[in-house]
Amino acid sequence: MGSSLLAVSIFTIFLCIYHKAIGSAPSDPTEGFVSLPLNSSNFHIHKPWNLPENQRYRFIDGIHWFWVFSTDKPLSRNSNTNPRSEIRIRGYDYSSGVWQFQGYGYVPNGTSGVCIMQLFGAKNANTTLMMRVYDGKLMYYRREVLVPYIYDEWFRLNVIHDVGAGNVSVFINGVLKLEVNDRGGAFHYFKCGVYAQDNDSYYMESRWKGIKVLKKCDL
Ligand SMILES: *[C@@H]1O[C@H](CO)[C@@H](O)[C@H](O)[C@H]1NC(C)=O
Ligand SMILES: *[C@@H]1O[C@H](CO)[C@@H](O)[C@H](O)[C@H]1NC(C)=O
Ligand SMILES: *[C@@H]1O[C@H](CO)[C@@H](O)[C@H](O)[C@H]1NC(C)=O
Ligand SMILES: *[C@@H]1O[C@H](CO)[C@@H](O)[C@H](O)[C@H]1NC(C)=O
Ligand SMILES: *[C@@H]1O[C@H](CO)[C@@H](O)[C@H](O)[C@H]1NC(C)=O
Repeated sequence: MGSSLLAVSIFTIFLCIYHKAIGSAPSDPTEGFVSLPLNSSNFHIHKPWNLPENQRYRFIDGIHWFWVFSTDKPLSRNSNTNPRSEIRIRGYDYSSGVWQFQGYGYVPNGTSGVCIMQLFGAKNANTTLMMRVYDGKLMYYRREVLVPYIYDEWFRLNVIHDVGAGNVSVFINGVLKLEVNDRGGAFHYFKCGVYAQDNDSYYMESRWKGIKVLKKCDL
């Protein structure tokens, strides 16, 4: 583990130098960030405890498919949480620095009352950020509408968390849609998929592709 972390650090430094040298599009939220190595071992699936993974998750032609029913069981026998089918990204838990999640998401018409992406960990709450869908609206928790109609279209999501500054920003299709203070805490990671919330539809589905975890170059 120690040596693989060291390898990733060295790799990151080389990529930072490379990106500084070639530059990138000015409006791209990933500018100044490097994409960290990610493979299937970084994707841990959280799904109803009583079902095999392939009953609620498939990976086909580069697309992660997640679906869940409002009557499904939680992720473990003793959990009181709502049903979910999610990727929990492993290997990049963080407590400092500037981190970014990028993914292309798709939510079919009908899916509602669901969290499709979360930034886990906060001081007096479980999450720093939840991206939810209610009746076609893409929302920050249930507080603010970021996109009025999100169904049936692929969209690009970029979430940036600056732990030191204590803030979070969200870009949809490259456009800044949200800037908020974070909610404290010193242990964070990213998740995406479907996680039932209030007023959940019977069937919930989201699809994701091109998932990346990026870290700001601090050179
Ligand atoms: C994923 O990457 C890790 C190193 O980051 C490596 O040890 C592992 O073998 C890789 N797994 C697959 C399935 O490629
Ligand atoms: C979404 O589904 C509802 C209910 O089935 C239907 O009335 C509506 O026309 C659909 N919207 C689109 C854009 O397909
Ligand atoms: C975190 O989530 C669990 C499960 O939903 C809940 O029981 C607990 O109260 C939450 N913790 C906080 C601090 O909100
Ligand atoms: C977060 O804070 C840093 C440092 O003050 C600032 O550069 C950045 O623009 C802020 N980002 C957001 C989303 O507010
Ligand atoms: C949505 O959920 C809230 C809280 O669970 C409940 O009070 C409200 O009646 C629900 N609304 C609908 C339309 O089901």
